[in-house]
Amino acid sequence: MPVPKAELHLHIEGTLEPELAFALAARNGVTLPHADTAALREAYRFSDLQSFLDLYYRLMAVLRTAEDFTELADAYLERAAAQGVRHAEVFFDPQAHTARGVPLGTVVEGLSASLDRAEERYGVSTRLIMCFLRDEPVESAMATLEAAKPYLDRITGIGLDSAEVDHPPAAFRAVYEEAARLGLRRVAHAGEEGPAAYVREALDVLGVERIDHGLRCVEDPELVERLARERVPLTLCPLSNVRLRVVDALADHPLPLMMDAGLLVTVNSDDPAYFGGYAGDNFDGVQQALGLTEDQLRELARNSFRAAFLEDDEPRRARYLAEVEAYAFGTE
Ligand code: HPA
Ligand code: ZN
Repeated sequence: MPVPKAELHLHIEGTLEPELAFALAARNGVTLPHADTAALREAYRFSDLQSFLDLYYRLMAVLRTAEDFTELADAYLERAAAQGVRHAEVFFDPQAHTARGVPLGTVVEGLSASLDRAEERYGVSTRLIMCFLRDEPVESAMATLEAAKPYLDRITGIGLDSAEVDHPPAAFRAVYEEAARLGLRRVAHAGEEGPAAYVREALDVLGVERIDHGLRCVEDPELVERLARERVPLTLCPLSNVRLRVVDALADHPLPLMMDAGLLVTVNSDDPAYFGGYAGDNFDGVQQALGLTEDQLRELARNSFRAAFLEDDEPRRARYLAEVEAYAFGTE
């Protein structure tokens, strides 16, 4: 079994594998612009974040009913569990569904039906995090937060994703203030394609507790020092960074440098169906390409549980951390 880990940066829509996409398309009478799964896989050559997002939003057309979302999440949790994931904090993009006429309640109830039984079925504890699309107007994000109020017992926090460049975090200040007032945890994508300044802004203006990606912080030594001092978790996604051309190759990933700088980094899969692997594949990838030691891999696994939103269940966090300590590498 792979090392126990938490997955903290995972878009559930990005777990839609080609086979499931075609099965749902047939069931829902949706026509996909690709002939078959092989042709679809051919389209998985991205030049940047936007080229990925175009396909990602397009394929979502197959997700229509609560059962579709339940099936999608079940398939992810089964794969994640097989790769050592013990706790998953799952992102979803409500606006990408409501814009297509799928009600928010359908999405939340469909995902919850899977997440609520994930522990008993797959041995995975879960949280749900609702992300806002930063390339849509702030009014749409605010309306989405308002519409989510009946479901807040099932939603742990909010995030910010989609096209980053020219969409700075500060525009969403009022949304994050309202979310804080409602007791929601706050994260945001920053410093993936956008500059290090967006990481600062997410911390200072949005009050986020974790940064998703954040790898461009390495361009700003003062920021790196602050992130290390304040123990701000950065949820890195190495295979995603290669596929979206944020780094040239895994061997060039700044992960080891970031660990050496004392940053609290974690390794995650982002959109595993599109980027060539789930959480364990990302661990294996960085281990091989960057020559990480067992100590470093164990530290990454510890970090994932340290950074998890488990403040309401500290005994569980302690159990997971004990599993990491007890894990014997080389027995996978
Ligand atoms: N970045 C921004 N938005 C996203 C991503 C990502 O990596 N995946 C899904 N939406
Ligand atoms: Zn992401």
